[in-house]
Amino acid sequence: MHIAVVGSGYVGLVAGACFADLGHNVILVDNDQNKLEALRAGECPIHENFLPELLERHRGHHLTFSDDLQAAVRASQLIFVAVGTPPAENGEADLSYVESVARSISGAITDYKVIVEKSTVPVYTSDWVRRVILRNAASPDSFDIASNPEFLREGTAVTDFLYPDRIVIGADSQRSATLLSEAYTPLTDGTYYRRPEAIPGPDRAKIPPPLIVTSAKSAELIKHASNAFLAMKISFINAVSSICEGVGANVHQVCQGIGTDTRIGPRFLNPGIGYGGSCFPKDIMAFRAVARECGYDFRLLDEVMRINEDQRQRFLRKVQGALWTLRGKRLGVLGLAFKGGTDDIRESPAILIVRDLVQSGCQIVAYDPAATERAREVLGDKVEYAASSYEAAAGADALLILTEWEEFANLDLARLYHELKYPIVVDGRNLYDSEIMGSHGFTYYSVGRPAVMAEAQEKGAPVVARKLSQA
Ligand code: UGA
Repeated sequence: MHIAVVGSGYVGLVAGACFADLGHNVILVDNDQNKLEALRAGECPIHENFLPELLERHRGHHLTFSDDLQAAVRASQLIFVAVGTPPAENGEADLSYVESVARSISGAITDYKVIVEKSTVPVYTSDWVRRVILRNAASPDSFDIASNPEFLREGTAVTDFLYPDRIVIGADSQRSATLLSEAYTPLTDGTYYRRPEAIPGPDRAKIPPPLIVTSAKSAELIKHASNAFLAMKISFINAVSSICEGVGANVHQVCQGIGTDTRIGPRFLNPGIGYGGSCFPKDIMAFRAVARECGYDFRLLDEVMRINEDQRQRFLRKVQGALWTLRGKRLGVLGLAFKGGTDDIRESPAILIVRDLVQSGCQIVAYDPAATERAREVLGDKVEYAASSYEAAAGADALLILTEWEEFANLDLARLYHELKYPIVVDGRNLYDSEIMGSHGFTYYSVGRPAVMAEAQEKGAPVVARKLSQA
């Protein structure tokens, strides 16, 4: 098929590369010349597994890059709109980019086209896009609007696209539903997975994935409701972890007990320092605004956001509880990205925590395997940047773990102990087993589990005191 993808951000770039891998001819459209040049020159602008391979495989053949939206529309049957929908000041999604793309598309509709919303948009956007295109003189039977929400996560975006739990197609006409479904045929008939060069998938992938066909409005709601539900799950377990801390229970045991109920499920039940990223914070606010506009006061979402904010404050109090005073303390920080596996720092709880600690007079030495350069753009020289976890830990009063990178879960604990000035670890992502940390002599604080106090373990020769006397 001939496909145009408008917007080469996270969703557009991944969708474009993956559609090319399914065998379609894709034109990726963007108005950022630097980005287009970089893509043409073989660069991959985001840190994402398998994306460099796919770009390399299809660049110049199945995948081309252009700034000419109208030519791309004329050449394509399906036009996926994947431009940004940033939050406006009142929390609503700013749809001005979507509107301006719709306007440009309308001038280039020569034969039947399906215009597909790929960006996360509020319910009723499909109606508005239709109206904008009609106002700009396209004839009503020359196009349809459909919604095809994307559920990919940063870090695993390519495999999420190619091995999805489900594909949702929101279309109000049979013709558009059929055409849009065809774009996914290699996935839904399973042929993609039999190709020797197919990108390998996760263990528990549903093959072939189910195709769910709904109305356009339902599909728009599915996207917002899915993200809101996932954020609610995280806030729920974070709230439970606070109760665990209050009564001395272990949140991981609680998660195992509730997550094995198949109605609840074990995923997205990891407590931590709260969710961040470019999606959950923005989408929960936008969904809240959509509900208000429709006359429903969705206060549950306020509470989800409040718990998320509170979780960060609780972590900061935990750091203070571990160190007594903060001014002048040197802290090693592991992780700046909003989650592991990405260099994205948008709405990163790690960055917010680092800012608060700097404000409190701490000296921060941070390390992130991928996000340092982006973090430097916002934190500047208020923070020192280390080249490894051990360098961040060297001489620190305590080590904080803020992002769930796999490499942070596999550190050489004896070496870490040796590097730190005091063996205190405050783990905001529960990457370590408390007992193991205790047996290595650490004082270890985590989320929703009892703290391990190395100081209290050895009568007369507390580890922290021993380190102090060596200093
Ligand atoms: C999220 C959704 O998971 C995707 O399905 C969706 O397509 C995407 O938003 C989007 O709307 O574009 P993403 O933002 O990449 O994906 O990241 P997640 O893996 O969902 O993590 C979001 C945040 O929640 C991170 O800060 C992460 O550390 C945190 N998190 C996640 C937890 O604190 N606990 C968990 O159990 C899971």
